[in-house]
Amino acid sequence: MLKQKFTIAPDGVDPDKVPKKTLCTGEQIPAIGFGTFGSDHATAEEVAEAVRGAISVGYRMIDCAAVYGNEHAIGEVLQEVMQAGIKREELWITSKLWNDMHGEGDVLIACAKTLKDLKLEYLDLYLVHWPFPNAHPPGCDVNHRDPNARPYIHEEFMKTWRQMERLVKAGLVRHIGTSNMTIPKLKLLLRDAEIKPVCNEMELHPHFQQPELFKFLIDNGITPIGFCPLGSPNRPERDRTPEDTVVLEDPVIIKIAERHNVHPAAICLKWAVQRGQIPIPFSTKRQHYLSNIKSVVEDPLTEEEMKEIEAIDKNCRLIKGQVFLWEGAKDWRDLWDENGEIAT
Ligand SMILES: NC(=O)c1ccc[n+]([C@@H]2O[C@H](COP(=O)([O-])OP(=O)(O)OC[C@H]3O[C@@H](n4cnc5c(N)ncnc54)[C@H](OP(=O)(O)O)[C@@H]3O)[C@@H](O)[C@H]2O)c1
Repeated sequence: MLKQKFTIAPDGVDPDKVPKKTLCTGEQIPAIGFGTFGSDHATAEEVAEAVRGAISVGYRMIDCAAVYGNEHAIGEVLQEVMQAGIKREELWITSKLWNDMHGEGDVLIACAKTLKDLKLEYLDLYLVHWPFPNAHPPGCDVNHRDPNARPYIHEEFMKTWRQMERLVKAGLVRHIGTSNMTIPKLKLLLRDAEIKPVCNEMELHPHFQQPELFKFLIDNGITPIGFCPLGSPNRPERDRTPEDTVVLEDPVIIKIAERHNVHPAAICLKWAVQRGQIPIPFSTKRQHYLSNIKSVVEDPLTEEEMKEIEAIDKNCRLIKGQVFLWEGAKDWRDLWDENGEIAT
């Protein structure tokens, strides 16, 4: 693919016009970000090219992760973007600690590698990707299991979290947060953390609204970041089951989209931002990522439409996480503490 040079797109959105959210620290963060998981089919170069395009049309928050295998390519783009005049402070770069780097001494090594790959001196947000040290190789199928997999052990998680806190103190990371957490796990973390998580990244779309966890986060000053905001239509095979519903084909979403004369994706994103989470949609197609960011700066949903969407929650989790299960676990529901207690 021919590499495009970075320029600000004349048909993009002015980043100053993109809504912002205020974190518990008083810090402002764009209310929409750009995902970078290529779902095992978009190459690192394709994703990096999309990041270049996304920044050129107005995205300033980029959701990265070491396990996506593309931070080295995204780093080239970030360097180029900053050389072209975008200041580091104008960008919000998130990355995530992968599950195989939770051990003592590993967190600093993982963060240093991510910083080197992204060609940055600091991250705006560093998340613990999953609350388990159970890893899977890229592109594996749903039956893969880590032979050393274990359930959530709070003392172990706190050892990882203390290392996250050290990164903040060392100035390598401005904020720390969690991902794929549950209320009982977060309660323990909030009790024991010296530096509290500012964000929790979690699956959120109209068919999976997680109202209880969402409320818990808001009540505790933790900002929800919503992944799979469009229901991840191209997610890997391992994350598909016959019961999964398709949010972009929901009749209520389609009806509201027709009313606003936009694609159903735009309705999911308007809903997300107006509800109060930060959606991080991914796309490699310019017309998609451009219309996605435009959707959150114009033509908001009415209160009535927000209520209609609230009513179509199907509690349909798409990223079930089977590959993180440990021996003796019943099924993927054990990862999510559905009965309010941490599964062991
Ligand atoms: N913390 C975690 O554990 C976790 C887990 C999953 C994901 N994430 C993050 O969340 C991000 C988003 O999740 P996701 O990528 O799985 O799902 P998503 O954003 O819900 O869906 C992305 C898919 O939707 C399509 N799409 C995007 N805009 C569209 C539009 N306007 N019209 C039609 N189709 C459109 C894209 O295809 P085209 O490329 O063809 O447009 C892309 O394949 C990831 O990239 C990653 O950064 C985090």
